[in-house]
Amino acid sequence: MCGIVGYIGKNKAKSIIINGLKRLEYRGYDSAGIGILNNKDIIVKKCKGKVNDLNKVIIDNIEIQNGNLGIGHTRWATHGEPNDINAHPHQDFSKKFTIVHNGIIENYSSIKKLLVKKGIEFSSDTDTEVLVQLIGYIYKKENIDFYQAFRLALKEVVGTYGIVAICKDEPDKIIAANLGSALVLGVGENEMIIASDSSPIIDSTRNIIFLDEGEIAIINESSYEVRKVEEDEIINKTINRIEYSLEEIEKSGYEHFMLKEIFEQPKTVREALRGRVDFINNKIKLGGINNWISNILEVNQIIITACGTSWHAGIIGSYLFEELLDIPVKVEYASEFRYRKAVVNSKTLILAISQSGETADTLAAIRKAKDLGALTIGIVNVVGSTIARETHAGVYIHAGPEIGVASTKAFTSQVTILNVIGLFLAKYINQENKEVNKIISQLNLLPEKISKVLNNAEDIYNLAKSFSESENFLYLGRGYQFPVALEGALKLKEISYIHAEGYPAAEMKHGPIALIDNNMPVVFVVTKTGYEKIVSNIQEVKSRGGRIIIITSEEDSELDKLSEHIIKVPTLHKCLLPIITTIPLQLLAYYIAKIKKCNIDQPRNLAKSVTVE
Ligand code: M6R
Repeated sequence: MCGIVGYIGKNKAKSIIINGLKRLEYRGYDSAGIGILNNKDIIVKKCKGKVNDLNKVIIDNIEIQNGNLGIGHTRWATHGEPNDINAHPHQDFSKKFTIVHNGIIENYSSIKKLLVKKGIEFSSDTDTEVLVQLIGYIYKKENIDFYQAFRLALKEVVGTYGIVAICKDEPDKIIAANLGSALVLGVGENEMIIASDSSPIIDSTRNIIFLDEGEIAIINESSYEVRKVEEDEIINKTINRIEYSLEEIEKSGYEHFMLKEIFEQPKTVREALRGRVDFINNKIKLGGINNWISNILEVNQIIITACGTSWHAGIIGSYLFEELLDIPVKVEYASEFRYRKAVVNSKTLILAISQSGETADTLAAIRKAKDLGALTIGIVNVVGSTIARETHAGVYIHAGPEIGVASTKAFTSQVTILNVIGLFLAKYINQENKEVNKIISQLNLLPEKISKVLNNAEDIYNLAKSFSESENFLYLGRGYQFPVALEGALKLKEISYIHAEGYPAAEMKHGPIALIDNNMPVVFVVTKTGYEKIVSNIQEVKSRGGRIIIITSEEDSELDKLSEHIIKVPTLHKCLLPIITTIPLQLLAYYIAKIKKCNIDQPRNLAKSVTVE
């Protein structure tokens, strides 16, 4: 949940760290800090607020400007409120060690008690300070070097971490470790950058290595060594290349990343299909799972697991797979699945969906399923992320970096890929399935139909103006549009802080209808499936004075009489339609949040990548 950058090399560390932290700010933005080694001392500056606030604090500080070794952090608080003291980096009692940390040290309180007994005084409420004090304590007591003290301390802690540390006694190195919180090392020419993802690295080098679970990296200006925390043995790491461009992680003239990402969807959906669907011969190729087809076709149940928006995509996936493959499919919140007794065995396929590929609960669900013998497949956006590496097989959605905390383009690409996987397997079972061939040919229409919705963004802005004062919203849909309703409600609450709930339209009568009065906006997502029934639901709301917003097909004129707030969208096969109908809901949430002057890309209390439980 926090963002980490460490730099050692030929350039000044400060600007690389600050620029890197700005790119990582989507991961947490309640406080920020930097530690730079200068003339044998480590100068630490930190403050509550964003990286720009930190920049103001250090702007005139010559010592910070000059060092070539440093670490920085942007925080999403877990232990201790967001304030100057709890911000990272933290230092030990001797001020020899300085660290930044992402994750949670679960046994911090017992270690802290022990250190307090030894006379060590603490200045913050964080679990991170406990870790750095422990490193300092072991270093002094055992009279060993930086690496050994760091490693021994890690062996004492229970929890998850991505840690980057520096030591003023050994000013030629950074030491970093990963247990449940990814770190990427950029290997440049006489410079190295270690960070929570590759975005702070891309300006300096495209060569990266992923630090795997339980690994420690000892990083010098022009070399590195990776070892196992437990066994202390050296590991050979493969160098990978960063494939995305700088432009992809910049706003390109849009006011917010979220808006840019919404408007990118014709392109990102096309990217998801590129090289996989042969529209001329109606064929699908999926290299990532090709070698696993016979294993997949042998399973007798599929469990889709994910969190948040990815979980909503998972519900659509479950409808699709039951329809196309005739196999029982369950969708589970990863946070529930990981702790309950689940009937999972070698005949189970686990499909894990994650934009970041780092979500702690989803990762834990995968590990549990693997232990129980299941086959695991990842549907992931971030290339090389932990989930992508830990699943047996997978399909990347190739949506490119998603920076806005509210997920948009990843959702439509996830649903696209779920379709592609379902169609690929259905085609494998029966080449001549006409329905399957029809859906495949319609995949090609997606980018153009999405563009059509985006061309009407102004209508949705006008709609947003009429509803931005509302305090509650209901979103209702049937069949494939029920998860779309959930997703529309999540988008609105995340970025505009308006309370919103999504329901299957028929469930309204079982409770939510009590909320309807002339202040309650109700968004109906209407398609041909269950059309008459949802029209009755609209009538029910209308007769109770609710304010009706309708998303329906461009061919539908019957609903014009039921509301003045209607957004018409192009139609497609029902399996693909969620990709279209979600877009006006993304825009509605975006414009309402904009009118309310909310912080759209960094909504309060949220972080993009939830790497803690
Ligand atoms: O990276 P993931 O897809 O695993 O993330 C899952 C959720 O944390 C994420 O979808 C979250 O709900 C977003 N803020 C939704 O906009």
